[in-house]
Amino acid sequence: MIRFGVLGSGKGSNFRALAEAFQTGVLDAQPVIVLSDVEHAGILDLARTFEIPCHFVAPGPYRTKMSPEAEIEIVRLLRDAQVDFVVLAGYMRVIKEPLLNAFPGRILNIHPSLLPAFRGLEAWRQAVEAGVSEAGCTVHLVDAGVDTGTILGQSRIPVLPDDTAESLHARIQVAEHELYPRIVREFADHLQAGE
Ligand code: GAR
Repeated sequence: MIRFGVLGSGKGSNFRALAEAFQTGVLDAQPVIVLSDVEHAGILDLARTFEIPCHFVAPGPYRTKMSPEAEIEIVRLLRDAQVDFVVLAGYMRVIKEPLLNAFPGRILNIHPSLLPAFRGLEAWRQAVEAGVSEAGCTVHLVDAGVDTGTILGQSRIPVLPDDTAESLHARIQVAEHELYPRIVREFADHLQAGE
């Protein structure tokens, strides 16, 4: 069985979608560890509900990245859990060399926009403020840039005339919960097949 680790900073609804997909047999890859840079993040409570080992890793002094020591600790925990790949699910820090080099080409992220549009924070708000008619979400491989890696899949949704940033994000999340398990399944199938 292919194994993956999950990193998240928030409420963890994408992690929930992945854990449920595994439980129901839709996803033939197992989430085996959940790590967060936020001590009381909902994603850690959810992991306990699913009885998946989870840890808070103190991020260190920076706001947008982990300290090198913290990232090395994340790598150690992921290796100890024997994960084959890593899934970012609302993880709000930039990934640096220790983690990138430990899992080259094996870190996935979901971003709430149709990349390459609206990289960075609160992409749903950027979309509403830009007045675009279409939004969505993207699953991509993580590289050293911010939301720049190879795109693995996208879902598109219309922006409605009365959408607020919050209502658009809520609908993007519905799309995310369908897209992420599907793309993670495809990725795990490729690994399983040795491609
Ligand atoms: C999701 O909408 C995800 O796309 C976004 O954070 C949210 C996390 O929700 N990620 C980013 O913006 C990364 N740049 P969740 O904790 O409920 O999965």
